[in-house]
Amino acid sequence: ATCNDASAAAPSGLASPAPRQPFVIGVCGGTASGKTTVCDMIIQQLHDHRVVLVNQDSFYRGLTEEESEHVEEYNFDHPDAFDTDQLLECMGKLKSGQSVNIPIYDFKNHRRCSESFRKVNVSDVIILEGILVFHDQRVRDLMDMKIFVDTDADIRLARRIRRDTVERGRDVLSVLEQYGRFVKPAFDDFILPSKKYADVIIPRGGDNHVAIDLIAQHICTKLGQHDLCKLYPNVCVVQTTFQI
Ligand code: ADP
Ligand code: C5P
Repeated sequence: ATCNDASAAAPSGLASPAPRQPFVIGVCGGTASGKTTVCDMIIQQLHDHRVVLVNQDSFYRGLTEEESEHVEEYNFDHPDAFDTDQLLECMGKLKSGQSVNIPIYDFKNHRRCSESFRKVNVSDVIILEGILVFHDQRVRDLMDMKIFVDTDADIRLARRIRRDTVERGRDVLSVLEQYGRFVKPAFDDFILPSKKYADVIIPRGGDNHVAIDLIAQHICTKLGQHDLCKLYPNVCVVQTTFQI
């Protein structure tokens, strides 16, 4: 499924378009549940629109020297591991139509790159993905749509072992140790309880093509309404009155 830009046909004689706010989608789920994969599949289907992906991981606090010396003691799955105020500031700017510089996080040395940033431009849709994006109410309040990616824990652990050993410079034993000590307890304490805030739950993540098609269709419909209402508020009010 793909969609076209519904804002193209402008009724003649109307005032110039009002600036529109981007449509914000939150994508939450446990580690290696397929959040990024689902986001990429949604983005592919929304290719007629400007879509940006913001990862909560980018807002991990860098470790201090002391914390780095005992990295195995550090809980990367606790909400305090993220700089949520900075995330809110960046999302607020993006929502109000300003481009932002987002930090780049290095999972191998647990630090932010000090010299480089990722510039994120103004867009029609912002997708914010991460393990704890539904935890803080201020972050949830930014979202127009909330999706939870629900994948079995054994599958997630298997993927995590493969990914962390291949891409994040870890060994199998340290992944298992971290999983039992921090990742699983934090999933039970913070991530699973936040599932109740989801509008849509996707079982099996990126394998669930039907769910992703339905979500993409819904976003297209919302973008159509969004575009028309933002561009021509009076027209939308008149239409709504007729419908009632
Ligand atoms: P998350 O963003 O939730 O951590 P990712 O989408 O990055 O999850 O996926 C984690 C790992 O699992 C990646 O290596 C990815 O290639 C793999 N993966 C994701 N979805 C699937 C799938 N449906 N089948 C097989 N491997 C998958
Ligand atoms: O991509 P994913 O959602 O799995 O990323 C979140 C995970 O990254 C967390 O479960 C956390 O344990 C892990 N992480 C890590 N090392 C870091 C930062 C995060 O293992 N330096």
